[in-house]
Amino acid sequence: MTAPGRVFLVGAGPGDPGLLTLKGLAALERAEVVVYDHLISRDLLDLAPGSAERIYVGKEVGAHSRSQEEINRLLVERALRGKSVVRLKGGDPFVFGRGGEEAAALAEAGVPFEVVPGVSSAVAVPAYAGIPLTHRGLSSSFAVVTGHEDSGKGEPSVDWEGLATAVDTLVVLMGVRTLPRIVTSLLAHGRSAETPVALIRWGTTEAQQTIIGTLGDIVGKAEAARLEPPVVAVIGQVVTLREHLRWFETSLAAEPLAAALAGHSVIG
Ligand SMILES: C[S@@+](CC[C@H](N)C(=O)[O-])C[C@H]1O[C@@H](n2cnc3c(N)ncnc32)[C@H](O)[C@@H]1O
Repeated sequence: MTAPGRVFLVGAGPGDPGLLTLKGLAALERAEVVVYDHLISRDLLDLAPGSAERIYVGKEVGAHSRSQEEINRLLVERALRGKSVVRLKGGDPFVFGRGGEEAAALAEAGVPFEVVPGVSSAVAVPAYAGIPLTHRGLSSSFAVVTGHEDSGKGEPSVDWEGLATAVDTLVVLMGVRTLPRIVTSLLAHGRSAETPVALIRWGTTEAQQTIIGTLGDIVGKAEAARLEPPVVAVIGQVVTLREHLRWFETSLAAEPLAAALAGHSVIG
C-alpha cells in the first residue's frame, strides 16, 4: 500500500505575490498537486513545478463551485495516493478561510498535514493603504469580523452591539454587500456617525482602490463607486493616519523590493 503523502495548508497572502512566506514557497516548489482558490495570483501558481497537477476549486458568487465536502474529499484522496499536496488559500488559511474544516477532515482521515500561516488581508490590506490597526493614543485594540453573516440559523452571528463600543478598530472582511446593515447596527449601538471608515478594494495589488468616509456617509460613497468585492473595511480613528502614512499608491513606480524579488525569481 502507498504511504500517504502530506497536505500543506498554505496561506498565499492577500494578493501581492511577494507576501508569500519562505515556508509557503518551499512547499509550492515541491508540490505534486496544487489545489487553489479564487483570488490566487498566477505568479504563485507558476512557482509550483510544471508537472504539478493544478486544481481550481474557487467559490465565485454565481458560478458553479465545488462544495467544501468535495474539496475535503479531494485533498484526502490525492494525499492517499501518496502525493505532496499544497492547498493554497488566500491570506491566512485559518482566518475566514475554512482551513480549520479542511484540517479536521485530514485529521479524521489520518492524513499528515502542516499549516503554513499566511499574511492575512485583515492586516496587510490596511497596511498597504497606510492604516495601522493600532496606534498609540488612537487605538489599543482591533477585531476582525465577517460581514457575511451566516450563523446557519438565520440570526446574526456577529455581536455588533458588543463590538460597536468595545473595540477601537474594526476590520470587516466580506462586508461590501452588507455594508448598509453593518453601518446601521454600529450607529444604533453607539458608534458615532463621525467615525472614519476606509474601504480598500484589491489591496496590495496594482488595482488597489481606497474610499475614505465616515459611518455617516460611507454607504453613499460605496454605492456611488459601485464597489464590488474583494474589500476590507477599516472602521476607527486610525483611518485618519492614512493622510500622512499612505505609501503604496505613491511608490508603485519605484518598487525596489519587487525588483529584488523578481531577481530571485520569486515573482515573475
Ligand atoms: C473568504 S475571506 C478569506 C480571508 C483570507 N483567509 C485572509 O486571511 O485574508 C475573503 C475576503 O477577504 C478579503 N480580502 C482578501 N484579499 C483581499 C484583497 N486583496 N483586497 C481586499 N480585500 C481582500 C475580502 O474581504 C474578501 O471578501
